[in-house]
Amino acid sequence: MFELENVSYAYDENAPALDGVSLRIPKGSAVALVGANGSGKTTLLRLLNGLVLPTRGEYRFDGVRVDQLFCGSVDDEIAFGPRQLDLSEEECRRRVDGSLKLLGIEKLRFRPPYATSGGEKRKIAFASVLSLNPDALVMDEPLAGLDAQSQSLVVDLLKALRAAHKTLVFATHNERLVEEIADVRATLEFGKLVATDRLR
Ligand SMILES: Nc1ncnc2c1ncn2[C@@H]1O[C@H](COP(=O)(O)OP(=O)(O)OP(=O)(O)O)[C@@H](O)[C@H]1O
Ligand SMILES: [Mg+2]
Repeated sequence: MFELENVSYAYDENAPALDGVSLRIPKGSAVALVGANGSGKTTLLRLLNGLVLPTRGEYRFDGVRVDQLFCGSVDDEIAFGPRQLDLSEEECRRRVDGSLKLLGIEKLRFRPPYATSGGEKRKIAFASVLSLNPDALVMDEPLAGLDAQSQSLVVDLLKALRAAHKTLVFATHNERLVEEIADVRATLEFGKLVATDRLR
């Protein structure tokens, strides 16, 4: 589903945030990205989401080379999934409106997703999930910034998604989350993928 071939990414020229990463994530697998602060997890997830493009190497999603930026606004972000499903634009609009309303975030509609608070980002992410019943979810620290109750809600949601054979990719420092959810632990060090361990 996700294929990275010798992918590098640098925010500035002298320090690569990702350095020659090759990783294949088949449909239905659950991959945890782990590694120290600054090792490249978030950058890798941003790449998978098409928010940044490789400076070297190739990224393919379902065999299609990703060379386009997308998800400019919260509205676009939530609409992205339904649009992938080849639903009519009218049906996409209906789903986006419905999930914005459900999460009470209508007022965020035209904001860029990165210009929102941590809690708001979570709500946007949930709205995206609800709008599309996706095949794959890419998540950066899915439990960060959530209170205990919301954390167990998210853990239960992830378990349900895994049981439904969704492809899950998430970065986390939470070892319990790795053990409860992931079937592969992929470890980054200084932008390099140094290990992929099968957990189950
Ligand atoms: N916007 C940015 N501009 C310049 N450099 C950046 C930017 N974001 C990240 N970096 C650098 O890229 C490298 C990888 O950062 P990244 O955010 O991917 O790490 P991470 O593994 O997600 O870390 P953490 O566990 O702290 O979330 C680091 O050296 C970081 O300093
Ligand atoms: Mg990070």
